[in-house]
Amino acid sequence: MYYILFLSRTNIDYLRNIIFECVNNNKALEITSKMIYCNDYYLQYIEGEEKTIRSLFDIISQDNRHNNIKIILEGAIENRKCNTPLDYKHIAPTVLNDINCSDLSDVCSLMPIKDDSEIMPFFAKLMK
Ligand SMILES: Cc1cc2nc3c(=O)[nH]c(=O)nc-3n(C[C@H](O)[C@H](O)[C@H](O)COP(=O)(O)O)c2cc1C
Repeated sequence: MYYILFLSRTNIDYLRNIIFECVNNNKALEITSKMIYCNDYYLQYIEGEEKTIRSLFDIISQDNRHNNIKIILEGAIENRKCNTPLDYKHIAPTVLNDINCSDLSDVCSLMPIKDDSEIMPFFAKLMK
């Protein structure tokens, strides 16, 4: 199993189509994923077979509906950490005030996530 956690910028207008595609594709590829959208930033975690994850990430990287894609963390994992094709949440910037950040880019540059064991608690905190 392999995971990639990445950040990118996009416009909310693309959201509906992207999510619709993701759910169906991820299901077919046995990829499980979490995604948070806040103020033009996406933070997404994808996990699955390494080859599948790397090729999906290549496809996502070339998608012109977003820009400035940046890998925050990636690596091998023993077991899946989530169980749905796409767990999505749109959050208000005020949610980030708790961790003294104004957007998801801030969150990532402050790196509250240092290893894969912190990723799910981190998403749970932001998505609650
Ligand atoms: C920010 C962002 C995240 C995306 N995440 C996924 C994803 O998790 N799974 C997926 O299948 N496509 C995702 N996509 C869409 C892919 O870039 C691509 O459009 C989709 O996989 C269909 O590719 P295809 O036309 O080559 O089949 C994402 C796109 C963007 C802009």
